[in-house]
Parts: sequence; C-alpha cells; structure tokens
Amino acid sequence: MIVTIDGPAGAGKSSIARDVAVELGFAFLDTGAMYRAITYGAMQAGVELQDVASLVSYAEAATLTWEDDRIDLDGEDVSDAIRTPMVTSNIRFIADPPEIRGCLTEQQRRIAKGRDIVTEGRDQGTEVFPDAECKIFLTASPEERARRRQLQLIASGREASLEEVLIAQNQRDLEDRMRDVGRLRAASDATVIQTDGMCPEQVKQAVLDTVRCRQA
Ligand code: DC
Repeated sequence: MIVTIDGPAGAGKSSIARDVAVELGFAFLDTGAMYRAITYGAMQAGVELQDVASLVSYAEAATLTWEDDRIDLDGEDVSDAIRTPMVTSNIRFIADPPEIRGCLTEQQRRIAKGRDIVTEGRDQGTEVFPDAECKIFLTASPEERARRRQLQLIASGREASLEEVLIAQNQRDLEDRMRDVGRLRAASDATVIQTDGMCPEQVKQAVLDTVRCRQA
C-alpha cells in the first residue's frame, strides 16, 4: 500500500509521516530530503546551478541511502547539512527543472516498488504516485505553520522573529505553488486535513484513521 502525504512547508508532514509509518510498520520516504541532498551535493561539487544537464548527470550519479533519521549522500552523513538556509534558498534550481524532477521521481518509484510505504513531499499524490491507495494533504494556515517553525528553531538554539519566519515561508510557498511541474497542490482524490489547533498526536490519529479507512 502506498500512502502519500503532501502539503506546504511547516505543516508538520515529516514528523507525522514518520510516526505514522512506524505505527503502521511501513517504510518511510522524505522526498524533500532527496531534493535537499541533491542541492547540497551539487553545491559542494561545484556544479553550476543554472546548468540543468550537469545537474541531471549529478543527480543520476549520486547515491542516497537512509537509516532512520539519517540520510547519506555518497556515503557521507548529510542529515544536518541539508537543512541550512543556504541549501533551502537554492532548492529551486533542483526542484524547478522537469528533467531533474523526472530523475528523482524515477528514484522515488524505484524505492517504493513492492513495499508498503508512507511517502511525503509536494507531488507524491499528484505526479509520482497518482494511483496511490491513500492520499492525504496536510495543511495549516500560514501563521500557524510559521509559529510551529519558530518553536522548532528556538528548540534547536536558533533565534528568528515570527515575521522573518513568515516572510521566508511565504516565499517558499510561492515557489512551491508556481512550479510548472510537480507544483504543490492537493490531488483531487486526497483527504485534506487542516491541522490548525490540533496537537501532533491528534494529527497523527487523523492520518491513521484515514489510512485505516482505506485499508478496510
Ligand atoms: O519538505 P521540505 O521542506 O524538506 O522540501 C524542501 C523543498 O524541496 C521544497 O520547498 C520543494 C522541494 N520538494 C519538491 O519540489 N518536491 C517534493 N516532493 C519534495 C520537496
């Protein structure tokens, strides 16, 4: 069974999807981490970020491996390095060109083949797994998402005003929604879960209820 969880930045997709996968005994795929890792690796390797053909060659040759929370790129643990603001601000060079998306889409389908999996991102229910048995679109208002993000930043020892977080988030929302291919949107057959005012446990239960309904 394939469960897709799409939604905007800061909706809590990653942690919810991971917890739901553990609860169901399913594999888990964080496709945002794939886009981040290829962005980070291409920057490190000095690949020209405007050069789509070179980026595709780089993405095809790169090897990504996962274990729990850890992601390795060509054998190097890049779990923290892929989450810096510098990487986030360059992701569009990897996420915009359809050629690079095609390469990552193929990898995502290969990873999911023959498995029970929860896969999260922006385009999982629309482009990558249009026939998934269960599709969820997890969202929250921009203010709520920014508040959650600010709390995460504070917890990790970084300071940021709510306004700064909201401005950066609005920029990412815009980029994610305007992309020609793989843009952020709910699949027509997705269950939309609006999470304002819900705690993580309630969101997890709502997602699990949706999946179990489809399993029945
Ligand atoms: O989920 P995240 O915030 O780590 O994702 C980082 C970026 O990667 C996101 O802003 C857009 C891109 N992305 C994408 O284009 N398609 C996906 N399936 C997942 C992420």
